[in-house]
Amino acid sequence: MRKNIIAGNWKMNKNLSEAIQLVSDLKTELDGKTLNAEVIVAPPFTSLETVNSLIKDSAIKLSAQNMHSADSGAYTGEVSVEMLKSVGCSYVILGHSERRTIFGESDEFINEKVIHAFKNGVTPILCCGESLEERENGTTFSVVEKQLKAVLKNLTNNQIEKIVIAYEPIWAIGTGKTATPEQAQEVHAFIRKLLAEISTPEVAENVTLQYGGSVKPENAKELLSQKDIDGALVGGACLKADSFRDIILSV
Ligand code: PGA
Repeated sequence: MRKNIIAGNWKMNKNLSEAIQLVSDLKTELDGKTLNAEVIVAPPFTSLETVNSLIKDSAIKLSAQNMHSADSGAYTGEVSVEMLKSVGCSYVILGHSERRTIFGESDEFINEKVIHAFKNGVTPILCCGESLEERENGTTFSVVEKQLKAVLKNLTNNQIEKIVIAYEPIWAIGTGKTATPEQAQEVHAFIRKLLAEISTPEVAENVTLQYGGSVKPENAKELLSQKDIDGALVGGACLKADSFRDIILSV
């Protein structure tokens, strides 16, 4: 029932002409291929509109990397969900660990954004995950549970069913250190059980759970073959069209 989704988080990489090049290369790489996963690209704000015009005739979907929870107003440097919609975004990444740790975003703020995104018909790709210290002191499950309970607060079952959750252990992001398929599966199974408690077992079965953190063509297949891993949120390896293609085709 649930969708496989591979999303590429470009982070703060690629100027406009580089973005055009990357998305054009990706289209060429995927041309004529049978895809078993939905493909999403999340370029920086400055390239969203242009990338949208280039993927219109393809199956690739567009995501932003962040948004504010207000409709409009005096929020210098911020972007609203309505603005994202107007340039073709159907997804938005929320609660990425870089937003939490570098920019101080709280669970409460992320919860407001999740609710606001849904209200406006944009699907959140919601990130969660523990730090190295938390993994080492055995609190992974309680950290993930606390994050998810807080950011999913006041969502309807219908919304929970639609959300995409990316489990991204912070110690695996951009470090080249991937969670083993067993480590990742264990947390994914825990998340699905938690979702069943928060909503219903039927709803939880339909939620797409992505793994993120140093996903590469070499490790994608094994990770993606785990029972509760339905996709990947890819950083570094999505910045080259051929490696992103290989990850997409490993589903
Ligand atoms: P990475 O990033 O693949 O470069 O580790 C993943 C992410 O932060 O979404």
